[in-house]
Amino acid sequence: MDLVDGFGRVVRDLRISVTDRCNFRCTYCMPEEGMTWLDRSEILTFEEIERIAQLCVERFGVDSLRLTGGEPTVRAHLPRLIHKLGQLRLANGDKPDIALTTNGATLRNIASELREAGLDRINVSLDSLRADRFLAMTRRDELHNVLAGIQEAKHAGFHPVKVNAVIERGANDDEILDLANYGRDNNIEVRFIEFMPLDASNEWERKKVVTQDEIVSIISAVYPLTSVPARGAAPADRWSYNDGKGVIGVIPSVSHPFCGDCDRVRLTSDGQFRTCLFATDETDLRHLLRTGGTDDEIAEVIVNAVGAKWAGHQINQVNFIRPKRTMSQIGG
Ligand code: GTP
Ligand code: 5AD
Ligand code: SF4
Repeated sequence: MDLVDGFGRVVRDLRISVTDRCNFRCTYCMPEEGMTWLDRSEILTFEEIERIAQLCVERFGVDSLRLTGGEPTVRAHLPRLIHKLGQLRLANGDKPDIALTTNGATLRNIASELREAGLDRINVSLDSLRADRFLAMTRRDELHNVLAGIQEAKHAGFHPVKVNAVIERGANDDEILDLANYGRDNNIEVRFIEFMPLDASNEWERKKVVTQDEIVSIISAVYPLTSVPARGAAPADRWSYNDGKGVIGVIPSVSHPFCGDCDRVRLTSDGQFRTCLFATDETDLRHLLRTGGTDDEIAEVIVNAVGAKWAGHQINQVNFIRPKRTMSQIGG
């Protein structure tokens, strides 16, 4: 049975946050100090995560699972979870696609282990190629490790390895071309992300958003681009370089919301089910999991939550309300 919302959108992608913790403190996401972390007992166990994932895959035909954080690789024994998720099968016998979004700091040590565990794809965040600026934006001196981690992921056989760069005016917008060149030189799909109002410090302002149109015009002025049609439900719009040196993506959440094509739901690390990144309400699955809820009961709660999914976020409306939780607590 498909999971369909009230607007006819079918859910195919479950994003699972495995921890709210992170080894970075990116300015657009977390404050330097003072985050309050979930207690260990509040975090879903791997068995609990597997149960929800299994329901979504086997019963609802969800064919894409993505592990997020915080930083997912700081969760102990992550490969064990990946291995277990890799055993799941859709009704037609297919294996769901299993992906990871990471800041890349530990990848140089664990990329092959993740691959062996059954991970299919990796997206790595990289907002600057300059060590001093990388330090300013992430508050960690880890550029060299992230760059090495990306190479290691390629060596381990991940394809494609995508790079996510959040562009914030005044912070790194002068590096758009450098990042594009990095992708061209390393055969990596760089995706430029519009800064969204999900930062913990509440410093998001519209004027800090570098829009998709600006990003594309900066790159295409140097390297002519052709739009790649059919984005489907993926958040990124894509362009290929006319000279054949790869593809870029832009995730235009603010200037061109893509909610109409959304096929995503989320499970937070503390077991709350969210039908939108920007949702202001959540459905508590942890309580059901821990009080003997049956699969049918959990499935019914999921069906109802998806049925109530809204048309889309309100970032561009005057009555926009930020979600109570920030990106790292929701899962990117
Ligand atoms: P692919 O399957 O490789 O296309 O992955 P993805 O782009 O869906 O996943 P990733 O975790 O790499 O997400 C990249 C960025 O897209 C995130 O950092 C978010 O900024 C943005 N994003 C992901 N999902 C959503 C969503 O549901 N809504 C909005 N507005 N932005 C999203
Ligand atoms: N706006 C846009 N993207 C963000 N991310 C984190 N915070 C924000 C924000 N405020 C991105 C990270 C990473 C993913 C997990 O979410 O860069 O790619
Ligand atoms: Fe889907 Fe919400 Fe993201 Fe829009 S903002 S694409 S509705 S999750």
